[in-house]
Amino acid sequence: MSVLAVEALVAGYGAAEEILKGASLHVEPGEIVSIIGPNGAGKSTFLKAVAGLLQPRAGTIRFAGTDVTRRDPQGRARAGISFVPQERNVFGSLTVAENLEISGYLDPAGAQGRAARLYERYPVLAEKRHALARTLSGGQRQILAMAMGLMTEPKLMLLDEPTAGLSPKAADDLFDAVVNLNRGGLPILMVEQHAVEALAVSTRGYVFVAGRESAEGAGPALASDPEIRRLFLGG
Ligand SMILES: Nc1ncnc2c1ncn2[C@@H]1O[C@H](COP(=O)(O)OP(=O)(O)OP(=O)(O)O)[C@@H](O)[C@H]1O
Ligand SMILES: [Mg+2]
Repeated sequence: MSVLAVEALVAGYGAAEEILKGASLHVEPGEIVSIIGPNGAGKSTFLKAVAGLLQPRAGTIRFAGTDVTRRDPQGRARAGISFVPQERNVFGSLTVAENLEISGYLDPAGAQGRAARLYERYPVLAEKRHALARTLSGGQRQILAMAMGLMTEPKLMLLDEPTAGLSPKAADDLFDAVVNLNRGGLPILMVEQHAVEALAVSTRGYVFVAGRESAEGAGPALASDPEIRRLFLGG
């Protein structure tokens, strides 16, 4: 059974023209799946729709076999979907510890134990636990955002451009963190601008163009496809 199976999703913002025009995608157990594609293709909109922040006009979203298309964001979080947005994904004026604490809202009683395990996994967060999130480096902030997403003990992680704005070294480290997370068995669906690097660590990838998938394939195969390279990866 697929972890995530999205069929022919149509969604947009209010009365404006639909942004997603029949997008379909699936994530299987244990996979890292990347979505790449030009600016404005609807990649972030797709993740938001899967997280429940946007109500689709048509199409279905099945999560672990259950139709969650009409569930609200909290219902989807409870089901096991965790979404780390592209922007404003930490509270800058709160400490690292406070950011983790509020992310444990689904089960406040268990939050301390989960935060302790995350401090073990990400020692940099333990070191910085009393620092305001806005004082962290870009890479540290993305690790915090990911850790916040893990506070609900998800069964699927949605990451929107986790390496955006990072130096090449910090981006490499972040991809390592994503791979390590996945090695623990957590399926990951991520949107990335660093397409070649993302596809290199992905089981499969999709190219989104104008609101839907226009190509799909094994990560490395997609990264070496001449047509894909010419169109999206700079030759
Ligand atoms: N909150 C919003 N209200 C109205 N339109 C929006 C909103 N967010 C995004 N859009 C529009 O939806 C379209 C797709 O945006 P989206 O953010 O999904 O693209 P993207 O593929 O993630 O692009 P990028 O690579 O730049 O992040 C764009 O035309 C954008 O202007
Ligand atoms: Mg985006």
